[in-house]
Amino acid sequence: MPPFLLLQNVSKSFPVHKGLFNILSKSKYIRKVIDNLSLEVGQGEVLVLAGESGSGKTTLAKLIMGSLTPDNGTIHFEGSDVQDLKKKKKLYSSIQMIHQDPYSSINPYLKVKDIVMEPLKIHDKKLSKEEKTEKVRIALSRTKLEPVNEFLDKYPTMLSGGQRQRVSIARSIVKIPKLIIADEPVSMLDISVRAEILSLLNDLRKSLNISIIYITHDLATSRFIGDKIGIMYAGNIVEYGEIDEILHNPLHPYTWMLLDAVTFTTNESKFYKAHSSFNFSDLPSKGCKFYNKCKLSFDDCTNDLQQFNINRKHAVSCFYYQNIVPKLN
Ligand SMILES: Nc1ncnc2c1ncn2[C@@H]1O[C@H](COP(=O)(O)OP(=O)(O)OP(=O)(O)O)[C@@H](O)[C@H]1O
Ligand SMILES: [Mg+2]
Repeated sequence: MPPFLLLQNVSKSFPVHKGLFNILSKSKYIRKVIDNLSLEVGQGEVLVLAGESGSGKTTLAKLIMGSLTPDNGTIHFEGSDVQDLKKKKKLYSSIQMIHQDPYSSINPYLKVKDIVMEPLKIHDKKLSKEEKTEKVRIALSRTKLEPVNEFLDKYPTMLSGGQRQRVSIARSIVKIPKLIIADEPVSMLDISVRAEILSLLNDLRKSLNISIIYITHDLATSRFIGDKIGIMYAGNIVEYGEIDEILHNPLHPYTWMLLDAVTFTTNESKFYKAHSSFNFSDLPSKGCKFYNKCKLSFDDCTNDLQQFNINRKHAVSCFYYQNIVPKLN
């Protein structure tokens, strides 16, 4: 059996204008937003991708969805290249995306039943109207938009933020995909409904055996949903493994920084230089991209980035651990 989802050495760059003068002069430089990233997701698994704004999370999601093509590297879903699957129109029924903003991701002028039916109208034209309606009813019931009859003819403006996100989840599961990429699906919702949406995603994952890539900058919510976690910094996964292990025994100085933000520690951290700006514009040109902000840094940090397996549940891309860990790899 080929791996469920496999990314190998994927890179993606975008041209960036440097300041107003350069916009006018049309001079650009290239920024590597995803940099030689490899990753595997198993069937039925939930992988959390965590990292702050600009670390490349959405770009990675778009690469997996086939809406961006990698400059280098390969992305295979069940053994097939996602670009080939996309060309053959086979990707859509396998991978679905849930977006951050339930207000802009669903058409406000369509009724709930038509929003949820959209994927069937486009990709399952052979189904009769009754069959499509039945699938919509099942999707609404699975997302707890009940009683279903009350929701079918409503417009998004008549729903709360949480209910709108349920509609967008119902649309994403109406064809029962194998993988859902949820890009910050609760960050724009009231705190009171976030846990409900996370638990809904968890239920769907269990009942339908759907894998989920859950993208967030909020580590606090990730432990409610994930099996594994990848910590992203400037287009690399700098720490990866089982979520309980990573959150209880974080090793990368950047993960410490993210966790500090979660626990609201105000003391200066031992592991990163305080008051560093994280705008990703002053990245080192080689080696670990965090080293100029890291208090553990030393000469080796300018070497090509390497991943060290601390144990079978935990890998970290930080040279500080290269001589400390047992060499499993
Ligand atoms: N189409 C594009 N053209 C140029 N630059 C882009 C493009 N898409 C993304 N970028 C840049 O790539 C970087 C990463 O963007 P991305 O949206 O992947 O980050 P993110 O981790 O999802 O951030 P956020 O948490 O804010 O959603 C950003 O600096 C962004 O400006
Ligand atoms: Mg994003």
